[in-house]
Amino acid sequence: MILNRVAVDLGERSYEVRIGTGLIGRAGAEIAPLLRRKRVVVVTDETVATAHLPALTAALTAEGIAVSALALPPGEGTKGWVNLARCTEWLLEEKVERRDVVLALGGGVIGDLVGFSAAILRRGVRFVQLPTTLLAQVDSSVGGKTGINTAQGKNLVGAFHQPSLVLADIGVLDTLPDRDLLSGYGEVVKYGLLGDADFFDWLEQHGPALRAGDAAARLHAVTRSVEMKAGIVSRDETEEGERALLNLGHTFCHALEKATGYSDRLLHGEGVAIGCALAFELSARIGLCSQEDPSRVRAHLRAMGMKVDLADIPGDLPGAEALIALMGQDKKVIDGRLRFILARGIGEAFVAEDVPGDMVQKVLADALAGR
Ligand SMILES: NC(=O)c1ccc[n+]([C@@H]2O[C@H](COP(=O)([O-])OP(=O)(O)OC[C@H]3O[C@@H](n4cnc5c(N)ncnc54)[C@H](O)[C@@H]3O)[C@@H](O)[C@H]2O)c1
Repeated sequence: MILNRVAVDLGERSYEVRIGTGLIGRAGAEIAPLLRRKRVVVVTDETVATAHLPALTAALTAEGIAVSALALPPGEGTKGWVNLARCTEWLLEEKVERRDVVLALGGGVIGDLVGFSAAILRRGVRFVQLPTTLLAQVDSSVGGKTGINTAQGKNLVGAFHQPSLVLADIGVLDTLPDRDLLSGYGEVVKYGLLGDADFFDWLEQHGPALRAGDAAARLHAVTRSVEMKAGIVSRDETEEGERALLNLGHTFCHALEKATGYSDRLLHGEGVAIGCALAFELSARIGLCSQEDPSRVRAHLRAMGMKVDLADIPGDLPGAEALIALMGQDKKVIDGRLRFILARGIGEAFVAEDVPGDMVQKVLADALAGR
């Protein structure tokens, strides 16, 4: 058994992220100390339920913990009002009380939705994240951002609600499709790029082994990513400053996700990877870092078999000005100055308040021309 522990220090809302193998099989023992009565409710999605709910249920019942479970449909479409209502009303029907604990077993969709439901149920019940995608293990399960999508956009309704515990069992990644694994890897690379050049070096060497299923490589990558996120969240829980660095690549990503209709054409982590490559390109053009840095970022993403260029996104994309408008930045701003996360080199990201709009437009136009 291997187990790494990372603390998220947030005063009385502090919790631990436990990362290792066999954690689902030990979930009963891990969770029991949190329980005031021997009963939990689990919310998951149907795909994860098939692969991992039996093992979780067995582990809980082995400790004498009664379990009931709800499996929602898989996919981003689940993260909305309809399933928020369904989940919350089911928790009420299950007579979940304020002293109880709700378990969220799944990827970022389930973690965000169930975390939000726990935040509003009886004005807040405790919940435990059992993240089952790489993205959820390194990013969405840690930090307490919960919420849903609405017709107006993604993650526009939600709450900060920290989990009481996160159990990241890297063994569950074995059943994750390769495309979802690589999408999560986009967020892993982001941590190296934003604040840890040594970690990026390590990823260049060990990324292919991680992709192929090497448990030691996965354990290290998840642990280092969680350490970085936990540190940033502990210092800036509600994104007044440093937490914004976690949005490296995300301004470009959001525009591309909107342009592709949040569809299968582009997964979130794929957009983050392309966005990081564009953010480094923009940084080099402004003269903040050398041209070698964006080349190195792109070479690593390419070596991992990931999407790197706008040409890797199937179907049509709008023009540069339209993409800037989709960033939530008004087209008129093109002549003005935009806020981006840029970098002075690999591992040296910062919030740039004063980015020339015409430079952003040029980077996008060139990237589109390369299609
Ligand atoms: N809260 C945050 O801080 C934060 C951060 C980043 C992303 N997010 C959110 O996370 C969501 C994306 O999360 P995601 O990429 O995990 O997507 P997801 O939850 O939709 O999971 C991707 C797919 O993998 C399947 N799956 C999950 N675990 C599996 C496993 N172990 N084996 C086989 N299949 C498995 C799911 O059923 C789903 O089809 C987005 O809604 C995004 O907004 C939130």
